[in-house]
Amino acid sequence: MEEKEVTFVLFGGSGDLTKRKLVPAFARLVHEGIISNNSTIIGVSRKKWSDEEYKRYLVDAVNEQRDKDYINKLDIKFFTGDFTKNGLAGLNKLMLKCETEGCNRIYYLSTSFKFFPSIVKELKSNGLEKVKKGFTRIVFEKPFGSDLKSSEELDSEIHKVFSEESVFRLDHYLAKETVQNLNILKFNNPLFYSSLSNKFIDSIELIVDEDLGVGERIGFYNDTGAIKDMVQSHLLQVLSILLMEMPSRLETEKIHDEKVKILKKLEVLKAENHLLGQYRSYNEEREKAGIVNLHRETETFCKLVLNCKTKRWNGVRLILRTGKKLNRKYGQIKINYKAVDLKGNVSNLMPNKAIIDIYPKQDIIFFMNTRDANSDSLKEIKFQFTKELEFGPNTRDEYAVLLGEVIKGDKMMFARSDEVIESWKIVEKIEKMRDKIKFIYYEDGSEL
Ligand code: BG6
Repeated sequence: MEEKEVTFVLFGGSGDLTKRKLVPAFARLVHEGIISNNSTIIGVSRKKWSDEEYKRYLVDAVNEQRDKDYINKLDIKFFTGDFTKNGLAGLNKLMLKCETEGCNRIYYLSTSFKFFPSIVKELKSNGLEKVKKGFTRIVFEKPFGSDLKSSEELDSEIHKVFSEESVFRLDHYLAKETVQNLNILKFNNPLFYSSLSNKFIDSIELIVDEDLGVGERIGFYNDTGAIKDMVQSHLLQVLSILLMEMPSRLETEKIHDEKVKILKKLEVLKAENHLLGQYRSYNEEREKAGIVNLHRETETFCKLVLNCKTKRWNGVRLILRTGKKLNRKYGQIKINYKAVDLKGNVSNLMPNKAIIDIYPKQDIIFFMNTRDANSDSLKEIKFQFTKELEFGPNTRDEYAVLLGEVIKGDKMMFARSDEVIESWKIVEKIEKMRDKIKFIYYEDGSEL
């Protein structure tokens, strides 16, 4: 891909995400020659920082000297403005001063979704919604709304200014190596794909455990909880890719069409199948932060069971599990096959399992049965693909991948509007039965 000049305008540009994820990604984009050195980063917030202060803030966010040099090469500006109150006047002028003709623009919104409509309106009223030459694209960090209604409202407000084509709803799980590999693993391996159905499979578990607590994000998290923070986006996105049928072509829109078909067919099982929980020290953290519980106890853990009412999947238990302050940081897809009911001598027969690791490894393991050469019984054996041995360590950061895709204009790794809406519908169903779901308090660092 030819190097592109891009102006990134970061709303929420002085926040934690910019430091942790975006700055390393910008360095990577320069390193890979995806953006040119004359690209610009403009941080926008109410803070009264100078350009120099912001530049230092960004350069300090990366550790390696090479990355610091890359960031130093970029043109870095800070724009003080309240985007809820006509605060963007002057931004266009600043951008034009930095850009050469034909420069592309990416607006990156990592503020609360509550500000998305006013930022979009402000962009429009200041004539910032498009440039004559080059592209203008807008990226929204999750969560995209807090329920079905707010998400639909956001869509309608955003579409008044930006066409769906230029809207990128970011979900960093879609750029995880394992998730990028899922369609290839399924569709290019008949050996595996032909076994993916209710004929052979008993259940599928999608596990995303975390060892850290909610930390400084408790203000946001207390109203959100694990279901809205993780399931609505990451887990349902991964599940829809895992279950989707083969599209007529592996093209972006066709893949989204297949994902939506799955999301529409997902059913939430009755309340007794699910479990919610909260880690023991959460309430203390909440009280310390001065946050009062208004409606409910916040779940920092959930285990939800769904069914997908398609011919292929109906009857397979789909278990989504995620939680904070558990014993480890771990992500995995576990496909549990049915036990084969053979008559005769079948001692030690184990049901097959396919394990697809998401984090920290990206290995794939098939557990199968073989004859134990030293006895008459069966033995469970592993066929293991160790990704790091084959390809070396994973060095491509998810945010660099995703920003690269925004620049390319490919939306395969982003959530489409109807996917987000369907996911919220599923979450609404769970929320409706919430009071009937068992709620536990678990020890910090426990296994569950
Ligand atoms: C974020 C959630 O989207 O994903 C966080 O808001 C969560 O609560 C994080 O910790 C997990 O991402 P990863 O890539 O570290 O598994």
